[in-house]
Amino acid sequence: MLGVEHTLALLESGATVYMTDIDEERLKSTYHNMLSLHSAYKVFYKFMDVSNQDSVKSASQEIKNQGLNIDILINNAAIDPKVQKDSLVETSRLENFLVDDWDFQLNVGLKGAMLCSKVFGSEMAKNGGGVILNIASDLSVFSPDQRLYKKDGLQPDQQPVKPVTYSVIKHGLIGLTKYLATYWADRGVRCNALSPGGVFNGQGDEFVQKLTQLIPMNRMASKDEYRGAVQFLCSDASAYMNGQNIVMDGGRSVL
Ligand SMILES: NC(=O)c1ccc[n+]([C@@H]2O[C@H](COP(=O)([O-])OP(=O)(O)OC[C@H]3O[C@@H](n4cnc5c(N)ncnc54)[C@H](O)[C@@H]3O)[C@@H](O)[C@H]2O)c1
Repeated sequence: MLGVEHTLALLESGATVYMTDIDEERLKSTYHNMLSLHSAYKVFYKFMDVSNQDSVKSASQEIKNQGLNIDILINNAAIDPKVQKDSLVETSRLENFLVDDWDFQLNVGLKGAMLCSKVFGSEMAKNGGGVILNIASDLSVFSPDQRLYKKDGLQPDQQPVKPVTYSVIKHGLIGLTKYLATYWADRGVRCNALSPGGVFNGQGDEFVQKLTQLIPMNRMASKDEYRGAVQFLCSDASAYMNGQNIVMDGGRSVL
């Protein structure tokens, strides 16, 4: 959902955008939607599995073969298992958490961001600089409030939870952001993180009510509310910002 918004943010700023995803159908339909909004948008798409180094390298090579230089990278891919689903009740809890789920989710959310930064960031460093933006979450600065996911009538050991992987990945992305901010600073590559709060996407009334009580602005974000921040963080408007985590959560983290 937010990848589309990041794409629109950059297209509106006049950038040429390469959308990548592991879901080709999703990519294709998003591409056609973009062109229906504005036929002059300079937008391309390519299958890329962020957790697979060969796939990332092949996407980078294809973009280079088209004569394009990448100077902005947004690391957005993630696996976000929806905790409301009954099937996740047993396996989301730490007591039962599957090592395979840990590996799969970290491979996408954390290793994927490292691999893309390695491949595309190296090119930026060679070509005079660029910007890396890691999409983290408000859960990069505080712990999930597991009361949000509680279901009536279930025993404590059966209650669904936000999985441990989400916290570890999002905190890890802030470490990666700081590391990258200094790593290529002398080559003109900056790196910052954007930490969105929960975006309204048709979640159930009970969940929305419980969550909005924790947010001083008393509402969830709408999906287009991060576009301005993406434009800021990916442009020279933030030229002196490096290694920071911009938390946009309606004020939840200051309570
Ligand atoms: N939606 C929210 O409320 C919210 C809040 C805070 C942070 N975020 C973060 O924003 C980002 C986008 O979230 P979203 O809600 O749009 O999620 P989403 O699930 O709609 O998008 C994630 C995308 O990653 C892709 N993906 C998964 N595995 C991949 C792989 N191996 N290689 C390439 N692509 C892969 C998926 O196909 C999907 O299109 C995530 O990092 C998420 O954690 C979202």
